[in-house]
Amino acid sequence: MDSNIVLIGFMGTGKSAIANCLSKMLPMETVEMDEVIAERARMSISDIFAVYGEEYFRNLETNLLVELQEKSNVIISCGGGTPLRDNNVAEMKKNGRVVLLTAKPETIYERIKNSHDRPLLENNKNISFISKLLEERKAKYEAAADVVIETDDKNKLQISEEIVGKLLEMDEKNV
Ligand code: S3P
Repeated sequence: MDSNIVLIGFMGTGKSAIANCLSKMLPMETVEMDEVIAERARMSISDIFAVYGEEYFRNLETNLLVELQEKSNVIISCGGGTPLRDNNVAEMKKNGRVVLLTAKPETIYERIKNSHDRPLLENNKNISFISKLLEERKAKYEAAADVVIETDDKNKLQISEEIVGKLLEMDEKNV
């Protein structure tokens, strides 16, 4: 791949799982942004939100994204809110192709319903809240994306192969 791969999308669209699958198919290292932020802060993402607030977390996200632009040959798995800041999107696009993973609210609900590490959904685990937040964010996600991949009813391998196919096509065409 000529560029880094930057995976974006709502919570539960499979960014981390697909990043891991892609890194087995391609000679590229994966960076899981939430994991790096939590490791460095020595706190879970939920605790960072609870103790310091969302804005503080968003600033950590931006700083990490800027720092990651020094790397090449990486798959960056963003947090679901990372593309909401326009300057973050500008960073992603410096060295990366931005791949948006999408899923229906019903699919997202099924994927996240038993997890407890997403502070924005912790007390809002229902399809109507997910639909509303997704709708609010949709335009930002779509504006950031170079490639859009639907993930409903597909397995990890199918999704990853679809991504690689589209990215290779773009590299060949020099888009
Ligand atoms: C968030 C998504 C989470 C995490 C944080 C905020 C969001 O990442 O960064 O809880 O605003 O959508 P995942 O998309 O990996 O769950």
